[in-house]
Amino acid sequence: MRGAMRLAKARMVPSLSADVKRRIRGYDSALMQVDLHESWRIGGVEIPSRLVLAPMAGVSVQAFRRQGRRFGAGLVCSEMVSCAGLSHQNERTLGYLRIAADEHPLAVQIFGAEPPVMAEAARMVEDAGADIVDINFGCPVRKVTKTGAGAHCLEEPARASAIVDAVANAISLPVSVKMRRGLANGSRTCLDVGPQLVEAGAASLTLHPRSAKQMYTGEADHTLTAELAELVDVPVIASGDITSRAKAQTVLATTGAEAVMVGRAAQGNPWALSQIMGEGGEPSREEVVAELMLFIRETVRELGEHRATGFLKKFYGWYLGRGRFPRPFKQELVQLETLDEVEQRLFAAAPGARFVLERLEDELPQGGEVLLDLPISIYGGG
Ligand SMILES: Cc1cc2nc3c(=O)[nH]c(=O)nc-3n(C[C@H](O)[C@H](O)[C@H](O)COP(=O)(O)O)c2cc1C
Repeated sequence: MRGAMRLAKARMVPSLSADVKRRIRGYDSALMQVDLHESWRIGGVEIPSRLVLAPMAGVSVQAFRRQGRRFGAGLVCSEMVSCAGLSHQNERTLGYLRIAADEHPLAVQIFGAEPPVMAEAARMVEDAGADIVDINFGCPVRKVTKTGAGAHCLEEPARASAIVDAVANAISLPVSVKMRRGLANGSRTCLDVGPQLVEAGAASLTLHPRSAKQMYTGEADHTLTAELAELVDVPVIASGDITSRAKAQTVLATTGAEAVMVGRAAQGNPWALSQIMGEGGEPSREEVVAELMLFIRETVRELGEHRATGFLKKFYGWYLGRGRFPRPFKQELVQLETLDEVEQRLFAAAPGARFVLERLEDELPQGGEVLLDLPISIYGGG
């Protein structure tokens, strides 16, 4: 009954009429251009564009999410947060619940295998000020699946539904689910499980149509995304291999998905997001260095200098690669011991970046961070 009511609610706010969706799925060439600037909804939450920034463990820190919003993502997502870590008040896990005023709308993603613990975690996420609670049924990593969480839940639909039901009942925010196609190659499990999760209370489904076994190899098969979108009356988000505006347009037009999600293409490359939105071109060297510097400073504020120093190393290659700077430059930065030295080297390579950075910092909204009643070290990052 509850599931039926939620379905009815979701039906009341379709952002494309059924007729338009049908014509799009019929590959009507006149409709191949879907407007990425259109807003849509997950439950009562309005999402201002059809572009979603993917949750990525070890990447989706607050600086990444705020940057994603500035470059056109209508919805951003935290990395997966352990419900057990939240439940045990683990300091580092609680740190994932820091939310800035300019991140909204924001989904915080949780993972776990026990419905009551997931429900408790969802309440903490709601209290922290998130707009949506996302549940991870896609993580393929053994450390997670062996506990019964992540993609493993696709093999246990009753448990997966019980988790969604418990979370949806615990909070008043919309609940979304992100999943893979299934565990084994060629699996179509998502088409069985997806509708059950909607029945249990999911207000949106994100599909990354690779199997857990595939990890990130092969291609995301978005014909499954189209099949899923046909089966459910809640918005479906298409994740996997969205690397260009043309790909985003094609996937939106041919699957009936409400939005596309971008992950790896945005690592060290927020310009991919604006390009997908149809705005802006390739950045200058000064812009690249200024964005990287802003990212470094924000990450230090969030994680503290010690943690940030190691965390940031992978970002140097992501920002400075793509033919933007000579390869040895990245090697040099990775070997520097302090972030002060990194800053000096970056400004020496692109002196004009100082002015771009000043402008960026001036434009950033200040303050407004939700402060929870948590140990001070979380806020200092130390
Ligand atoms: C480094 C990395 C970390 C990821 N972490 C998460 C995660 O925490 N939660 C999740 O649902 N998906 C995670 N993903 C999967 C992405 O959200 C996305 O579905 C996948 O990368 C496919 O999209 P892409 O081709 O645009 O990268 C991760 C992917 C990468 C590359």
